[in-house]
Amino acid sequence: MKPEKADTLIPKINTEMIKILANDGIDPIGKEMLEKAGFQVDTQNIPQEELALRLDEYDAVTVRSATKIRRELIDACPNLKLIGRGGVGMDNIDVEHARMKGITVVNTPASSSLSVAELVFAHLFGGVRFLYDANRQLPLQGATNFAGLKKKYAKGSELHGKTLGILGFGRIGREVAKLAFGAGMDVIAYDLYEFSPEVELHLANDTRVSMRVKTASKEELLRNSDFVTVHVPAQSGGLPALGKAEFDMMKDGAALVNCARGGVLDEEALIAALDSGKLSFAGLDVFDGEPTPSQKILSHPKISLSPHIGAATGEAQERIGVELANLIIDFFKK
Ligand SMILES: NC(=O)c1ccc[n+]([C@@H]2O[C@H](COP(=O)([O-])OP(=O)(O)OC[C@H]3O[C@@H](n4cnc5c(N)ncnc54)[C@H](O)[C@@H]3O)[C@@H](O)[C@H]2O)c1
Repeated sequence: MKPEKADTLIPKINTEMIKILANDGIDPIGKEMLEKAGFQVDTQNIPQEELALRLDEYDAVTVRSATKIRRELIDACPNLKLIGRGGVGMDNIDVEHARMKGITVVNTPASSSLSVAELVFAHLFGGVRFLYDANRQLPLQGATNFAGLKKKYAKGSELHGKTLGILGFGRIGREVAKLAFGAGMDVIAYDLYEFSPEVELHLANDTRVSMRVKTASKEELLRNSDFVTVHVPAQSGGLPALGKAEFDMMKDGAALVNCARGGVLDEEALIAALDSGKLSFAGLDVFDGEPTPSQKILSHPKISLSPHIGAATGEAQERIGVELANLIIDFFKK
């Protein structure tokens, strides 16, 4: 999925005075594309509390997840014509209100799917070999208790031949399935809506292989998977998609990964399932109450942690920047 580069022919449009604020940054290639098209692009971050006074001098703003574009801010900026979200989730933007005010809101939903899927596997491969704990303990005890730690982490397992349950079979879920097949896993998928079970793996030497996931009910998936990874959006009403009842259904010693959104699983119930040994480990990239996750989660010895970096790869950011730039250019060209 290589993005179109900035040096392809970008139409120069009448962009005199069109100002774009990339408040959470934009990949240099995307910025260059916009500048070549004639826009003024500011990448300095305006703090959230100053935006109400300063955002209205811009015609468009791009954000990732840090900047919040709430109703009051939208009302304070009648000059704003476009809000671009680099990434998927738009929970930081009052989308309906913006659209009601005639502001176009766009995002780049597919650009980061592969990066998120690879992070799921970072948690899974690390989890089955206890790397999340070994990386914490070796600096403390490695020089004095090497043999003890070697024994502690001696009962690892392989992913090959195990079953991965994918809850939510959208863009990221499908990428996860491809990596799982590549790792020799069986895949079961569940989604609220009907979906195609076919995925196409793009392997080295331009080899393409079509594979089918097994489809199942949510309960069957939970009961039959060695690992469950969740890829659903924030749930309406904030209800978790996974709580005690779901953890109870899972295989003893199964593991869970959440690289979707904080709130799609019940963190208290997760801690209880880990403490009781029902689940062996969890990999979390997203948390309730970000950016201040609970200390109980952060210090839990069976949780592999990453600070919401699913989309944070050079490749994904480049694709996001290019896609955003194209969306902005297309919008103002009209
Ligand atoms: N960790 C990160 O940095 C990062 C980066 C990008 C996206 N995300 C998150 O990943 C999640 C998935 O993104 P995506 O691009 O695959 O979205 P998507 O819309 O393509 O897929 C989500 C799927 O979940 C399904 N779904 C919704 N509620 C469900 C439920 N209760 N049970 C089963 N299925 C359900 C939908 O029908 C859809 O097919 C989103 O929450 C997104 O915000 C996280």
